[in-house]
Amino acid sequence: MQRDIQNIVILTGAGVSAESGVATFRGPDGLWEGHRVEDVATPEAFARDPDLVQKFYDARRAKLRTVEPNAAHRALAKLDAHWPGDLLLVTQNVDDLHERAGSKRLLHMHGELNSAWCLACDERSRFDGVMADDQACPHCQQSGHLRPDIVWFGEMPYQMERIELALAQCDLFVSIGTSGAVYPAAGFVQSARHYGAQTLEMNLDPSEGSFHFHESRKGRAGDLVPDWVAEILRDI
Ligand code: OAD
Repeated sequence: MQRDIQNIVILTGAGVSAESGVATFRGPDGLWEGHRVEDVATPEAFARDPDLVQKFYDARRAKLRTVEPNAAHRALAKLDAHWPGDLLLVTQNVDDLHERAGSKRLLHMHGELNSAWCLACDERSRFDGVMADDQACPHCQQSGHLRPDIVWFGEMPYQMERIELALAQCDLFVSIGTSGAVYPAAGFVQSARHYGAQTLEMNLDPSEGSFHFHESRKGRAGDLVPDWVAEILRDI
């Protein structure tokens, strides 16, 4: 598969962080089993009950401090460091495990737990604390206007133009640990194929769009991703 490949786009989802102990969304122990999406992950929920929404993300932010990147994050960071062509890692994850593993060519299309968006001054700031306490914005110092910098349902994912351009220019699109249930990310495989890229999926279970991929590998990201990275780096 790696012959003639210069530009790579990688999409990751919650499955890549599962072995670090971060809960996925769907499935028996998933986050959406314990919460209704419309109660915690929509702008309407935040308008109705900001305290509930802040506490949901405060708890997830606190959990982040207790987890570490796993072998899949580390392998992707290694690929980033050594791959001579273009590479873009697009993550749907709001954790910071890719960057803690060392990935640089990375974007968070669904936002970040460690970022606060101030609705008073519209600035985004690094944030590591508890938002439910009506914290002051690190930028404008006003209190009570911070919201989690998370893309909620009904909101537009970040940096879509950059992602579409990378998909149009890539020779290989790789999807790791995502159920393929949420658009636009779920449609990236079709865009990449439309522009002629090879496509590979690595997931514990076949995703909803599994049939779109040229190749599907089934298993744990911590096992599959290091093997794939070794494979692709062998031929450069
Ligand atoms: P999901 O919870 O929908 O899917 C996680 C996928 O990872 C499933 O297909 C699992 O089979 C797979 N998986 C679990 N453990 C794995 C492992 N160790 N190795 C490999 N794969 C594993 O999570 P996402 O697809 O990321 O959006 O969800 C997409 C979006 O839906 C999220 O970004 C979030 C959510 O609503 C927002 O919050 C905006």
